[in-house]
Amino acid sequence: MPHSGQSAASRDWWRTAAIYEVYVRSFADGDGDGIGDLAGVRARLPYLAELGVDAIWFAPWYPSPMADAGYDVADYRAIEPLFGSLDEAEQLIAEAHGLGIRIIIDIVPNHGSDQQQWFADALAGQAGSAERARYHFRPGRGAGGSVPPNNWTSEFGGTAWSRVSSTDGAPPAPEAPGGPGGRAAAGEPAEWYLHLFSPGQPDFNWAHPAVRAEFADVLRFWFDRGVDGFRIDSAALLAKDPSLADLDPGQAGGEHPYVDRDGVHGIYREWRRIADSYPGERVLIGEVWLPDAERLTRYLRPDELHSAFNFDFLCCAWDATRLREVIDVTLDSHARVGAPATWVLSNHDVVRHVTRYGRADTAFSMSDRRIGEPSDRELGTRRARAAALLTFSLPGAVYLYQGDELGLWEVEDIPDELLQDPFWERSGHTDRGRDGCRVPLPWSGKQPPFGFGPEGSVPWLPQPTQWKDLTAETESGDEGSMLELYRAALRLRHEEPAFASGEMRWLDSPADVLSYRRGDDITVVINLSAHAVGLPAHNGVLISSAPVVGGMLAPDCAAWLSTR
Ligand code: GLC
Repeated sequence: MPHSGQSAASRDWWRTAAIYEVYVRSFADGDGDGIGDLAGVRARLPYLAELGVDAIWFAPWYPSPMADAGYDVADYRAIEPLFGSLDEAEQLIAEAHGLGIRIIIDIVPNHGSDQQQWFADALAGQAGSAERARYHFRPGRGAGGSVPPNNWTSEFGGTAWSRVSSTDGAPPAPEAPGGPGGRAAAGEPAEWYLHLFSPGQPDFNWAHPAVRAEFADVLRFWFDRGVDGFRIDSAALLAKDPSLADLDPGQAGGEHPYVDRDGVHGIYREWRRIADSYPGERVLIGEVWLPDAERLTRYLRPDELHSAFNFDFLCCAWDATRLREVIDVTLDSHARVGAPATWVLSNHDVVRHVTRYGRADTAFSMSDRRIGEPSDRELGTRRARAAALLTFSLPGAVYLYQGDELGLWEVEDIPDELLQDPFWERSGHTDRGRDGCRVPLPWSGKQPPFGFGPEGSVPWLPQPTQWKDLTAETESGDEGSMLELYRAALRLRHEEPAFASGEMRWLDSPADVLSYRRGDDITVVINLSAHAVGLPAHNGVLISSAPVVGGMLAPDCAAWLSTR
């Protein structure tokens, strides 16, 4: 019986859950085409049950032209054919539930794909048409309208506007190579449309009732199929200043023309009512990047989202003072709205933390990934082990990204011609983007594809040959491995009631050491100093990220102590 197996009715499961992100195209490839798929995931569900996760979050699994690896959704009610079918998704949901694992799926409401029917209709419609009103179409500025309607920039670089032509959307002439959409056809330059991400991701107009109705229906479509929740992509960006005024760089906290506008909350109140109308505690989890904890936790008021990712924690340097500050601010701000804190080390958008923690500067910023900066892998791995024990012992829910449990590092030498992330092209080849954390997982064997797909298949991104030492097979049963540390820590986290409900209290500790109690039974010590430190009084070491020798905890190591 997997220890994650709680009854479907268990209350507030999401407040303390360990949630594992599956990035489908890189998890496991069942059919050998080099791209991960649902068959691959289904075959590995027992692995996830054994790891001890409570839920899986799937990055988008919908049909997509993959302008942004699936975050450009062409159909919100189907499965990408490369990944499988809707039937298979339903089977997967049932099988996961059978193992006590809940299913959370990504929903991408800020923008769709330019290959979506709605967008084709918008292109075919004219300026001012009802079809265009579901997006943000505007005339350009300047002579001939050749200047974008405002100064907003795309997250991936360059302007956030693309211009359509008068013949876009017309049926393609037989000789035109552009295919449906006919974008290759020559026409007069016409309106511009807004895309805060790539041109393949037109932003929806959330002031339009049809957009709200459509997404409410999509939520129900998947809740009806048994999903336990949604991870809401770019959740703070949906509401736009209707005047689409230029951005003044100082604007924030409700004044910004598209980040965190107050109008966004009404959307999530409506979504919460939908989630609450289903049995079994269906949850909404926001991807909300905001510098201000108070603004972030507004999304977590009791009638809005259940939880949100803690990116301050993810970006925080491996530094005792700064970590303690982030932990305190997180706990305090979340407590004010009665929401659980969350702890996140990595995801499909950021440099893997083994690599970050091995750098001289261990802080992280999305705007400067510093790919290729020197990193001490051994040090990074030691800290990643300690960080796992830190995150798993803090009050709240934890998010794991596939491969964290194997200790994978960022792959920084993917050949240029294989890079697929839009950051690479849109930055004019200055930002190598996020492919390095999306390299297919190593499962078994001594050479690529390392069991990711059948022998002889070629993964969509090349795997480092050194990953032969980091396969799930190699690490299984090896006491000193990252995988066994994760398994043991997640098991203890489930077994010890103090982790779910014990109050957290900081203890006095030497400089650069974090030490706290959970309830009366457990004391946690994380040594971020350069010296070994003695442990406080205890009745046994429950787990440690490196052996405790002579009662001393080595630098960059962590231990959970029994104080029963
Ligand atoms: C989120 C996703 C990221 C994607 C972006 C646009 O930040 O995590 O991968 O590129 O939204 O959808």
